[in-house]
Amino acid sequence: MPTPLVAVRVALTLAGLTLACAPSWSAQSPVAAASSVSETSFAVPIAAQLQAGAKVAQTCAACHGLDGNATSTEFPKLAGQHVDYLIKQLHDYRIAKGASHPARVNAIMNGMAATLTDAQIRDVALYYSRQTFRPGVAFADKKEIKLGQSIWMAGIPDRAVPACAACHGPSGEGMPSRYPRIGGQWQGYLETELQMFRNDRRTNSPEMHDIASRMTDRQISAVADFAAGLRARSERSR
Ligand code: HEC
Ligand code: HEC
Repeated sequence: MPTPLVAVRVALTLAGLTLACAPSWSAQSPVAAASSVSETSFAVPIAAQLQAGAKVAQTCAACHGLDGNATSTEFPKLAGQHVDYLIKQLHDYRIAKGASHPARVNAIMNGMAATLTDAQIRDVALYYSRQTFRPGVAFADKKEIKLGQSIWMAGIPDRAVPACAACHGPSGEGMPSRYPRIGGQWQGYLETELQMFRNDRRTNSPEMHDIASRMTDRQISAVADFAAGLRARSERSR
């Protein structure tokens, strides 16, 4: 049961999203785009899934950390990420039936994901989603923080770029299950992903492609920097 506060915030965020996206949005249904997500199964007890997931995570730990708090900025943090988002990404790194290449191209992760079964993906995603996220990162370029903050909160109206906060939340905590947490993620990783969305090397999100393709390098770098410095609200109160 969501608390009333959460319900209100979600309602507000959804309202903001509708407003922010209405003028420029494509007709493509985001739900259809996410149809490859396989739901976390309740047929297998959660404790068993977590245990199996922890075992799979041993093969991921060198890069992402056993608790999902990657210590090298080359590798994204997975701890506390929304489970359905993680599941979708691991499927997107594989080659879908009839496709010539994966929706998300990355040599390392294409190789890793190809070795996992659907059940292992479900288990390892659940495991990482339940680990405590450790934020805390310095802003890379303080001069650009104002620009990054304004893009985050208000978008770029003259380029029809909506506010990032509308979908990723004011503190970057995201929204289950489609909108990933990006607050506190590494700056370099966020910047790379925005470039990949723009260059169509990451083709698993028409909406993020639209957004990134309307941004300049400078705007991408500034907003990635701002997002990296955001601490998700839930972490602050822990
Ligand atoms: C050798 C290093 C390495 C190993 C081992 C590895 N990863 Fe990754 N992982 C990466 C890199 C690099 C990226 C970013 C790739 C990109 O830009 O798409 C990534 C990205 C991801 C993402 C996307 C994160 C996001 O925020 O969208 C997920 C999910 C993920 N890895 C899960 C796993 C799992 C589960 C395992 C173990 C089964 C694993 N990885 C093993 C290097 C690694
Ligand atoms: C209309 C909703 C929406 C808005 C507005 C939005 N995003 Fe996203 N964003 C998404 C969704 C959905 C995904 C997940 C895509 C997928 O399934 O891979 C995403 C993914 C991302 C990712 C990849 C995260 C990861 O872990 O790999 C980054 C980075 C990102 N968004 C940055 C931004 C920035 C910066 C802005 C503002 C300029 C923004 N987004 C605005 C919906 C949105």
